[in-house]
Amino acid sequence: MWVSSGAPKAPLAEVLPGFWLFSTLSDVMGTKEMNEIAMTVRTPQGLAVVVGCSHPGIEKVLEAATKIDARVYSVFGGFHLVDVSDAEVSSIVTRFRDKWKFERVAAGHCAVEFAFSGINRVFGAKFDRAGVWTVIALPR
Ligand SMILES: [Fe+2]
Repeated sequence: MWVSSGAPKAPLAEVLPGFWLFSTLSDVMGTKEMNEIAMTVRTPQGLAVVVGCSHPGIEKVLEAATKIDARVYSVFGGFHLVDVSDAEVSSIVTRFRDKWKFERVAAGHCAVEFAFSGINRVFGAKFDRAGVWTVIALPR
């Protein structure tokens, strides 16, 4: 059962203690009105947000997650940067560090190679590639 967060286009639900599902609606051309479900897990150091393909925009998904907790420890999954300029990808990666202050980033399939290298350059050992069977430990 969805519990309204007060924002009609961003319902969220705590499905297990500390585990939330929430949705975000895309207003991006090409995926407009596509609804996307993401998951987040509460850790002692903030949320670990797990995204699918981020069609609404990775930062829009992250903004929705901050309704649960303002502190985001990490983000995992596809960031859908396929139609984004290299300059904007660089800006997003910089905001991952300076605005979002992620402790870890695990980029997946649609984050594109340019973003992989940028995240790797900025986050170094705190960067992981998200993929099938990838196991990433979370703070407990
Ligand atoms: Fe994607």
